[in-house]
Amino acid sequence: MLAMAIPAYAQQTVNTAGNVEKVTVNGQTIHLKASNTDIEIAVFSPTMVRVRMDRHPLPPAFSYAVVAKPQPTAVKTTDAGGAMTILTDSIKIVVQKKPYSIAFYNAQGQEVNADEQGLTTSWVGNNVTTYKHLQEGERFIGLGEKTGPLDRFGNAYTNWNSDVFGYAVNADPIYSTIPFYIGIHHHLNYGILFDNSYQSDFSFGASTDRYAAFGARDGEMNYFFIYHQQVADIISEYTALTGRMPMPPLWSLGYQQNRYSYYPDTEVKRIAQTLREKKIPADGITLDIHYMDNYKLFTWNKDRFPDPKKMIADLKAEGFRTTLIVDPGIKVEDGYAAHEEGVKANVFIKYSDGKLYSGQVWPGWCNFTDYTDPRGRAWWKGQIRNYTDIGVAGIWNDMNEIATWGQKMPNNVLFAYDGHPTTHLQAHNIYALNMARSSYEGAREATQERPFILTRAGYAGLQRYTAIWTGDNRAEDDHMLAGVRLLNSLGLSGVAFTGMDIGGFTGNATVGLYTRWIQLGAFIPYYRSHTAVNTRSSEPWTYGEETMEIARNFINLRYKLMPYLYSNFYAAATTGLPVQRSLAIDYTFDGKVYDPQYQNQFCFGPALMVAPVTSQQTVAKIYFPQGSWYDLYNDTLISGNQEKLVELSWQKLPVYVKESSIIPMQSLVQSTSEKPDDTLRIHIYKGQQENHFVYYEDDGISYKYEHGDYYKRDIAYTPGNNTITLGKAAGKFTSKFGTVALILHGFGDVQPKVNGAAVTAAKARLPFLSPISRFDPQGGFTPVDSCDVKVITVQNGSDKMEVQY
Ligand code: NOJ
Repeated sequence: MLAMAIPAYAQQTVNTAGNVEKVTVNGQTIHLKASNTDIEIAVFSPTMVRVRMDRHPLPPAFSYAVVAKPQPTAVKTTDAGGAMTILTDSIKIVVQKKPYSIAFYNAQGQEVNADEQGLTTSWVGNNVTTYKHLQEGERFIGLGEKTGPLDRFGNAYTNWNSDVFGYAVNADPIYSTIPFYIGIHHHLNYGILFDNSYQSDFSFGASTDRYAAFGARDGEMNYFFIYHQQVADIISEYTALTGRMPMPPLWSLGYQQNRYSYYPDTEVKRIAQTLREKKIPADGITLDIHYMDNYKLFTWNKDRFPDPKKMIADLKAEGFRTTLIVDPGIKVEDGYAAHEEGVKANVFIKYSDGKLYSGQVWPGWCNFTDYTDPRGRAWWKGQIRNYTDIGVAGIWNDMNEIATWGQKMPNNVLFAYDGHPTTHLQAHNIYALNMARSSYEGAREATQERPFILTRAGYAGLQRYTAIWTGDNRAEDDHMLAGVRLLNSLGLSGVAFTGMDIGGFTGNATVGLYTRWIQLGAFIPYYRSHTAVNTRSSEPWTYGEETMEIARNFINLRYKLMPYLYSNFYAAATTGLPVQRSLAIDYTFDGKVYDPQYQNQFCFGPALMVAPVTSQQTVAKIYFPQGSWYDLYNDTLISGNQEKLVELSWQKLPVYVKESSIIPMQSLVQSTSEKPDDTLRIHIYKGQQENHFVYYEDDGISYKYEHGDYYKRDIAYTPGNNTITLGKAAGKFTSKFGTVALILHGFGDVQPKVNGAAVTAAKARLPFLSPISRFDPQGGFTPVDSCDVKVITVQNGSDKMEVQY
């Protein structure tokens, strides 16, 4: 009898790194040969290390996220039998050899982060995962645009850029991938960037009490470990690694009006004119897909927009810059120039058998540019000139997850991946980053003016090229709050220029919701109202007189805060710190900031704390962290370390000023192209803490600042010796303000001296920071609240000036 053939099924098992058999130290880079794995530990700085592992010999590292090179760093290594130690002046790395595992300690010998013994890094098929020991009480923050709570402990997430129209507040994944998080425990914090562009998974102790893990479907285990004592320094080093935002054009910090879609050109102009007539300051109009001829990129619907160049110039003359939407899909159509040129230039994505990949999106069947191919980027950059040549100032990159109807792009399409040919599986999550990059570089090369670039999807490092918004949110209270957390999380993950559709994209906002959202938007880096087709309009005047007045008040406040805001963007561009800051940045070890009741509170720059409230609330419970806080509207002082019930009014969003804050402001303008009056108003709030603020100005539009054409000075408030100092100004630019008014809040009577000479401080009653008023149906508007202040007026200049009071 013949023996039955038993099929040899491949056995699925867990493969580990194995034992370290050989160690080679090559300056700051240490190679470990383990029985199953090649391991490379590269010291990038005294506080940052990269660990790479694979089951094959490691090729030279390649990354779309990372731009920094290792800095020369003193590294001591000792190899004592069972373990090897790598020491910088800030961290100690201990590698156990049998079997391999790694742990990171600070200079005081505290364990900051360690592999979970027994699991460490392992493979199931091609799927690679690193398991980190879950520390007692460990919290996790960041991970980019992820829904869910501020503290991500107990949750798991997937990174796969997805088009999620009208997503649920807890949907995952959504549009973008930033595989960077910060772990917090025992008064320690660290950051981890898992730089692998395949679909990746993060678990922060979800369904397990053993570990926090990060892994991907394929590719290398490749992660950076960053250690600092302050979360702010971790973000700063993370953005030194992945790059920082260039200074955006000033106009992009103004209010932007949008809907899907404004057309024809007369309607666009009507919107712009109405904003001016109703004295609602604004800087931008955004055109959605209906400007195109049948949604064909780089074309115009000539019936709707017979002369786009003139329309854009007319808008500019009124102080409006035009931003246009672009999608990656190029319609497959004979005679359509962009398609024919793209085919000729051989820039479209193909299947593995060499046939062009087509997917359906707005215009019907489309081909898609391979932005991971330098040729694709060059071609796209050329096409972008169609827009920049006629004055388009902003490029809004949409649908770049890639979104196609069916939402299932095949795995077997190929990408150049800049000299590392690969499939969709590896290229998917970095596609949008490279689209935004191409748009940015195209616009940057085409004009002398800084472009504004917006994207929906992205990958770690996107801040180098673009701002991001959170896509198709819903006109619901929960969505507004979830959006705040998305932006706070993006800020923790290195992205400073962020926004969400004010008023909600899908559905219709109620008057109350719109009111709360438009107020909140004044404190969000990218301030744009947007809404879908067939929904109620999102212009501030469409919700009634009272709401329009409230909207105007907060948009006014935004414009008056422009010197503060622009300086904060400068800080973000130079340090990586976000403009919209989760309280976890400054109050990391205060458990209250993670409390679901308070987790949506954030700071707008270092000075202003915003407590978002829903349309349903009549009372808000607000947490005031340590220190003292001033009510923005009437200077009432509130001591910190307390939770407080605050009665709400429609006119005021709860906003508080941190003691010792320095807030430079200007007079009201209707757009950033209008010159404010000659006085820079520097508001200073009395407090116990010494404080510094870097004031920054430039022309707001050109690149001359890169060559020293800026005006920058340190403003210091030193309560210990009753001094306010305006430091010597650096840079070649002359400030647009001839006068400085120091506006003192909470100082009582003062007898000030400026550079030793006595001056007077005038008493003043401000209607408060912005003339917010209450709409009275019987007749007009009456101001609400006021603050009594002292004002010291001095000449502005560039020399150091010391004011004693
Ligand atoms: C999807 C975007 O998320 C939305 O903002 C836009 O209005 C539509 N595409 C139409 O272009």
